[in-house]
Amino acid sequence: ALNERESMFLVTEFASQYFQKQLWESEEGKAIAWTYFKERGFTNDTIKKFGLGYSPNVWDALTKEAQAQGYQLEFLEKTGLTIVGEDKTFDRFKGRVMFPIQSMSGRVLGFGGRILTNDKKAAKYLNSPESDLYHKSKVLYGISHAKQAIAKNDNCYLVEGYTDVIQMHQTGIENVVASSGTALTPDQIRLVSRLTKNITVLFDGDAAGLRASLRGIDLILEEGMNVKVCTFPDGDDPDSFAKKTPLQDLVAYLDTNAKDFIQFKASLLMNEAKNDPIKKADLIRDMVVSISKIPDRIKREVYIQECSRIMDISEDVLFNTLAQLLKKDL
Ligand code: CTP
Ligand code: MN
Ligand code: MN
Ligand code: MN
Ligand code: MN
Repeated sequence: ALNERESMFLVTEFASQYFQKQLWESEEGKAIAWTYFKERGFTNDTIKKFGLGYSPNVWDALTKEAQAQGYQLEFLEKTGLTIVGEDKTFDRFKGRVMFPIQSMSGRVLGFGGRILTNDKKAAKYLNSPESDLYHKSKVLYGISHAKQAIAKNDNCYLVEGYTDVIQMHQTGIENVVASSGTALTPDQIRLVSRLTKNITVLFDGDAAGLRASLRGIDLILEEGMNVKVCTFPDGDDPDSFAKKTPLQDLVAYLDTNAKDFIQFKASLLMNEAKNDPIKKADLIRDMVVSISKIPDRIKREVYIQECSRIMDISEDVLFNTLAQLLKKDL
């Protein structure tokens, strides 16, 4: 007998095929979803490669079809595809374009579904609920398509969203995965660390993206990995930027603007606190906190020297601060 997880995989993989069939073959799917993806600039090959699909705008289209084909309601419910209510059973993702979320080996763990409008009242993306297959803190969107390029380039670009991954791939940069809007977690970083020790964070060019980048830095350092940050112009995210930028220019932009975390934090100071000693002090302390997360002692020393040089402050003071922080952690 199949175990429970395998039964759930059968359902998610059926659903992924079903959503794709709706996109490519149904009148509604072609008119609404295919057109939507075209407007976002995705080619047919890209849509196929990422298995993008459409969940019809009908209460229980998937649930009915799956049951007609012998899939059990129990597993439709356990994977979160079907919501079983008091007197009604319905599709979670009704009327959304679908992004299957795959494991490292390419199995379908769950889905993200986007509304087609920019209606601010509805949640833009709905994701599968936590289940035995889908743990949002442990998946990275795009990892199955990116793993070879990550190993080959010995670097992984980390973005926020589904469409950032897809648009960068289409432009020609394949070593990219998304945290999918959740705050980055140690499990997600460990998934990458099997392939490379180098992460370049590419978060959205807005306040939320900056905050998320700053949080991500310390977590990545704590896992013993190297982290760079590359920011985008305000209002751009990697998707919108890649969409309007040819590959050569995109590569050049990333190479020029990716800064080591210390340089990145220093540049924040240049922007925000140039003539403010208190802010400068806060920022230096914050840099030492980041350095204190690095497990390797030699690397810590090198970064203290670097910090001393760029912030023009004595190494002694920085080492003392570092020592205090490390003691606190014990
Ligand atoms: N996200 C989510 N639920 C939301 C909003 C966002 O799960 N209500 C996740 C999605 O994985 C999304 C990511 O956070 O891809 C980044 O959010 P955002 O930048 O707002 O979305 P984009 O990916 O830029 O989406 P789009 O370009 O389709 O508007
Ligand atoms: Mn589990
Ligand atoms: Mn954003
Ligand atoms: Mn975005
Ligand atoms: Mn976007």
